[in-house]
Amino acid sequence: MIKNIKFSLDGKEVEAAPDETIWQVARRVGEEIPHLCYRDAPDYRGDGNCRACVVEIEGEQRLSASCIRKPEPGMSVLSASKRAKKARQMVLELLITDLASPEGEFEKWTWALGVGKSRFPVGLPIERDVSHPAIRVDLDNCIQCGLCVRACREVQANDVIGLAWRGADSRVVFDLDDPLGDSTCVACGECVQVCPAGALKPAQNDELAADRLVDSVCPYCGVGCQVTFHVKDERIFRVDGRDGPANRNRLCVKGRFGLDYVNHAHRLVQPLIRKDGVKKSGDLIVDPDDPSAAFRIASWDEALTKAAEGLKQILKESGAGALAGFGSAKGSNEEAYLFQKLVRTGFATNNVDHCTRLCHASSVAALLETIGSGAVTAPVVECLNSDLIMVIGANPGSNHPVAASFIKNAVRQGTELVVIDPRETYLTRYATHRLQFRPGSDVALLNALLNVIIEEELHDKQYVETHTQGFAELARHVKAFEPERMAPICGIEADTLRLIARKFAGAEAAMIFWGMGVAQHTHGTDNARCLIALSLICGQIGRPGSGLHPLRGQNNVQGASDVGLIPMMYPDYKLVADPVAHKEFEAFWGCDLDPEKGLTVVEIIDAIHAGEIRGMYIMGENPAMSDPDTSHTREALAKLEHLVVQDIFLTETAAFAD
Ligand code: FES
Repeated sequence: MIKNIKFSLDGKEVEAAPDETIWQVARRVGEEIPHLCYRDAPDYRGDGNCRACVVEIEGEQRLSASCIRKPEPGMSVLSASKRAKKARQMVLELLITDLASPEGEFEKWTWALGVGKSRFPVGLPIERDVSHPAIRVDLDNCIQCGLCVRACREVQANDVIGLAWRGADSRVVFDLDDPLGDSTCVACGECVQVCPAGALKPAQNDELAADRLVDSVCPYCGVGCQVTFHVKDERIFRVDGRDGPANRNRLCVKGRFGLDYVNHAHRLVQPLIRKDGVKKSGDLIVDPDDPSAAFRIASWDEALTKAAEGLKQILKESGAGALAGFGSAKGSNEEAYLFQKLVRTGFATNNVDHCTRLCHASSVAALLETIGSGAVTAPVVECLNSDLIMVIGANPGSNHPVAASFIKNAVRQGTELVVIDPRETYLTRYATHRLQFRPGSDVALLNALLNVIIEEELHDKQYVETHTQGFAELARHVKAFEPERMAPICGIEADTLRLIARKFAGAEAAMIFWGMGVAQHTHGTDNARCLIALSLICGQIGRPGSGLHPLRGQNNVQGASDVGLIPMMYPDYKLVADPVAHKEFEAFWGCDLDPEKGLTVVEIIDAIHAGEIRGMYIMGENPAMSDPDTSHTREALAKLEHLVVQDIFLTETAAFAD
């Protein structure tokens, strides 16, 4: 067992874990040593370049940078000695020389250390770079601490920011000293978040100070990044990443700079009722700038009464099967739970679904069938412990950039990356192996991998025996799928298929990420089954660095499914068709429930066309925009006799609302 290190800090005996620096120990025991080029956050190493954190160590001639120096047994550290303080003041005085207007962390430390004007000659001013739509660059405020370089290169692995030139001429540059707006910057804003001096700031509202900070979750993709909104006068003007388990302070362009929609002029703030006589048709468009041609503003009482009356009327005339509801994968668990409860108990039907049907329903079906849970088995960051990562049918560089940043980090530390995709994706250039196979041949390709692993007996026999069922059947099934036979079908050479199969089976820990390229497919469930089998027979699951991770599309599609926003399941994946579960929920909600499973998103649209469904309630979904065959969907929405839409914008779907 590695022992803690005992040493003295300002006369007190303290203990340090083996990997802790003096700065971290001081922070833990309640002392804050000044710091500029160091950031106390996951994934940021100390650099020791600014020397604002120097401390005195008894018996040593030179002061030491506490952000990188680790304590040794018996060491005596003086964090606030006269000598250390004087040195820090000098550091800040030298740095402040060139600064037009100190800001942020730097300004805080100049105050704390009593550093005002500098006695040193001022350098030439540098012009602001305002070429980027989201980030303003003011190198007149740059202290060259290098945090932005580490943020861009080591954390987000985007490799845009560097330090160039020498001596007094040295400065931060983007790519080949391009204006930021012309560079390859992807606007993740990590540099903005870490800049301690205000050299890199949001381009908009950079002068504002927050009235309050609000912690929340990013509303975009399924990564689940935790965020802090900086709010002034009820407007979000800046977003920072928080240290959540999925993002460890990181964000991408969407979460960082894509929240201005919250205060957009098109936000619906009053209920609307369709004007009498305004017809609906499949090609209907309502101008969100001026919806008055189709809608009139109503009171909440009037709107709620009209919404409920229309639904009740249909229920009375045609019975429960004539109503349906689409809920949202972007709401909270509570909202999703209440919505499905409303449909099941109020509309007396299980016709309730949401966009999971169109993205990862196939993955969930395969996961439930094979491992008993529709959830990922390992978080994205677990890939940092993998020695092989397989990404198939997914483009996280565009769709889940924060997830991609962890995959890139893993590759940088030596993990092999296998990208399997018919397209060249963002991650291709980081890939150790790239399999650009023929679209639609996923099963052939994956069965070939299974064939090699089983035929060459590379599977994890102990894991298979103790944790799986049906191995013999699988072995029999994939016997015919030799790589030589599958190669012409999937377009990948047999030798490559053998190589990847051996690598996956031989990896100490391997993780599989997949996306819509696998799931949104006529063979989506089969594709996911193959990936799960691959993982299970190799025992690549349930250990650090191993596992299965379908990259979800919406930020709470998992929660919405967990709480029963799906037609065949009550909350907690209890089957509607199971009489025990049915009885349980009837007793729990105190009413009769429909014993038959409901219709899915796609079936509901077809049932509208067939005249079976006459009324709907849609909360936070936009099928007129995002469902397959939008003309078919829009015509169905136009056909509804009563449509209630609950949304924050007048969406394409809301245009059809009553
Ligand atoms: Fe330690 Fe900069 S914070 S050297």
